[in-house]
Amino acid sequence: MTSELERLFEHLRFPSISTDSRHVADVRANAEWLQGQFEEMGLQTELHETPGHPVIVARNERVEGRGTVLIYGHYDVQPVDPIELWDSPPFEPEVRDGRIWGRGGADNKGQHFVHMLGAEKTLKEEGELPLNVIFLIEGEEEIGSPNLVPFLNMHKDDLACDIIAVSDTGMVAPGVPTLGYGLRGITCLEVMVKGPSGDLHSGVYGGCVANPATAAARMVASLHQDDGKIAVEGFYDDVIPLEHWEREMWTKVPGTADEDFLKTTGSPEPFGEPGYTMAERLWARPTIEINGFGSGYQGEGSKTVLPAEAMFKLSCRLVPGQDPAKVQQQVEDHLRKNLPTGVTVEIHKGHSGKAYHNDPHSSYGKAAQRALTTSFGREPVLIREGGSIPIIQDMKEILGADSLMLGLALPDCQIHAPNENYSVENFQKGIEMSRELLKELSKI
Ligand code: BES
Ligand code: ZN
Repeated sequence: MTSELERLFEHLRFPSISTDSRHVADVRANAEWLQGQFEEMGLQTELHETPGHPVIVARNERVEGRGTVLIYGHYDVQPVDPIELWDSPPFEPEVRDGRIWGRGGADNKGQHFVHMLGAEKTLKEEGELPLNVIFLIEGEEEIGSPNLVPFLNMHKDDLACDIIAVSDTGMVAPGVPTLGYGLRGITCLEVMVKGPSGDLHSGVYGGCVANPATAAARMVASLHQDDGKIAVEGFYDDVIPLEHWEREMWTKVPGTADEDFLKTTGSPEPFGEPGYTMAERLWARPTIEINGFGSGYQGEGSKTVLPAEAMFKLSCRLVPGQDPAKVQQQVEDHLRKNLPTGVTVEIHKGHSGKAYHNDPHSSYGKAAQRALTTSFGREPVLIREGGSIPIIQDMKEILGADSLMLGLALPDCQIHAPNENYSVENFQKGIEMSRELLKELSKI
């Protein structure tokens, strides 16, 4: 195994699950390890405390008159449940079939590490980087970056940059370099439906009091029409429609035809808003998804119970034009309006983030395209992304800089799921891509 891969494995062995308080010490240990890596590269490095998990900032010595790129990443990861579905333990990385298996491989340790290794190689070979570089690696992306916005505001001058580079997105197919120029936004809600004061015998009381599970199911069902369109009043009002050139361009993106998405997802047929391809629905249309639903008996066999409560969690993916707070309110109003009789409801508003969009043909976008072409040997495709990295729009607003999204996660990388994996080829080519990117950006 190369020493570069061995070092990525060290990174992957930290169970840095930001949402789980049992892992606070692991998240910190990972941050300290990262700090050590940057120090060994010879960069000035700071570990910043926040009310949550630490932020790592590392930079080369600033040279006046040179451009500055900020390279963003996150060292926190998602929980590993359901653990029994992993083929190898999530925090014991290994290589099989040209892939690195382990939590955080693609999202995001393996992707930001290529930029660290690229800078390190250039520093070793050239003695310096061709422009000012600031690494900003946070530990709370997977929980909505609650402490990064205040951090950015506090350190605005220190973090001033011309452009941001992020590898935390997808690559449409192996060997097809991919430049992302959009991300969906997000807004989350948690809903608790309550009925009787305690669980009841479903024979003794069933039929004379409302069942919260039934009520919750009706509320969830009310969110969509049968054809997949969202039924919440005003939901689509502010959506900026797709441009003709994007629709045209996306028909030629390999690996993103409806059949490809069906193959990757294992779903029997397409679903969603009428009038759009699957790629268009993913990259440019808003959604409401149920992320969790619970009530009643979940164990083996049957239990005749009328549960006292039911809960569901949902997230809306948003597109340019939509205001997360407004959509969150529209969804809350819709749920209250569609509350069945006989139950009460509590609705908790969760985290939100705006969608992001840039011009892939700007001088920076073209520099990124050249770097991808050189390192992967073919021209990149230009896509928007279905996922969200809300801090990217925040950085646009606070630092005034756009983000180049150079995705290295393949469609079957299984991020947030069991058997997350990262292509060894993308790891190796990613290091070259990062070096080319610094070169290209320094010419602007
Ligand atoms: N790296 C992902 C986002 C992503 C994945 C963008 C694939 C494009 C393609 C990121 O780590 C993530 O999972 N973000 C969360 C954000 C949320 C917790 C605020 C998401 O999209 O669910
Ligand atoms: Zn993620």
